[in-house]
Amino acid sequence: MLPNLHTKWSRRLFNLAAAPYAWMTWQDTWRNHCGSLAVHFPNPTHPQSLRVLDLGIGPGVSGIGIVEQRPDVSLVGVDFSEQMLRQAQGFVKRSGKSITLIRADGAALPFSDKTFDIVTHHSFLYLVSNRSGVLQEIHRVLKNNGRYVMLEPNEDGRFSVIPSMEGNLRFKLSMALWRFFSARYGRFTETQLRKLLETTGFDNITILPTLGGLGWIVCADARKQAV
Ligand SMILES: C[S@@+](CC[C@H](N)C(=O)[O-])C[C@H]1O[C@@H](n2cnc3c(N)ncnc32)[C@H](O)[C@@H]1O
Repeated sequence: MLPNLHTKWSRRLFNLAAAPYAWMTWQDTWRNHCGSLAVHFPNPTHPQSLRVLDLGIGPGVSGIGIVEQRPDVSLVGVDFSEQMLRQAQGFVKRSGKSITLIRADGAALPFSDKTFDIVTHHSFLYLVSNRSGVLQEIHRVLKNNGRYVMLEPNEDGRFSVIPSMEGNLRFKLSMALWRFFSARYGRFTETQLRKLLETTGFDNITILPTLGGLGWIVCADARKQAV
C-alpha cells in the first residue's frame, strides 16, 4: 500500500525519497528526455534571456537537461522539498550550469504576475493534489502568450514497451517505477489534459505521445485573459 501523497505529509515523503530518486534519475537518458522539453520553447526574440520556471525540479536533473539544450535561457527551479533541493544544489554545481533554486509550493508561487516566458515541469503534475490551483499559478506567473511545456504520464501507456526502450537498465527501472507510481497517483488522458488547460486559460494546445506512449508531452500558450 503506497502512502497518500495528497496530505500535509507529502513534503516529508519527498524528502525521504530524494536520495534514491536522485540516484535513479542522474543519468543521460532521463536528462535528455527532460531536455526534450526545450525543443518546444520559442526562439529568443529579444537580447534578454528567456526566463524559464521548472516546477518540481527535484534533484535538478530536469532543469540541467533543459539548460543543456538551451544554454541561452535563464532557469529558476522550484521544489517544496528541502532534501530534493539539497540534491539539486550538488548536481547543479557538478554540472557547472547556472540555475537558481527556490523552495516553494507549486500552488503558492513567490513570483509576481507575468514573470516568466516559459513554465515547464516533468513528472510533477501527476503527484499534485491541487492541480487546478497549480495550473492557475502557472498561468498567473506566465507572461501574455507565455509558453507552458510539460511531460506527464499517459493513462493508456503499456508497461510492455519498457524492456525494448532505448537506455540502460537504470533508465528502464526508472520507467518501470514511473509507471508503477503513476498508477497510484495519477495519469492523464488526452481529453483530461486538454480540459484542464482550456479551463485554466490556455490555448494553442498540442498533446503528443512520448516515451513509447508512456507519457504525454504537452505545449500550450497562456491566453491574455485567464478564464
Ligand atoms: C517525480 S519528481 C520530478 C523531478 C524532476 N522534475 C525530474 O523529472 O526528474 C517530483 C518533484 O515534485 C516535487 N513536488 C511535489 N509536489 C509539489 C508541490 N506541491 N510544490 C512543489 N514541489 C512539489 C517533489 O518534491 C519532487 O521533487
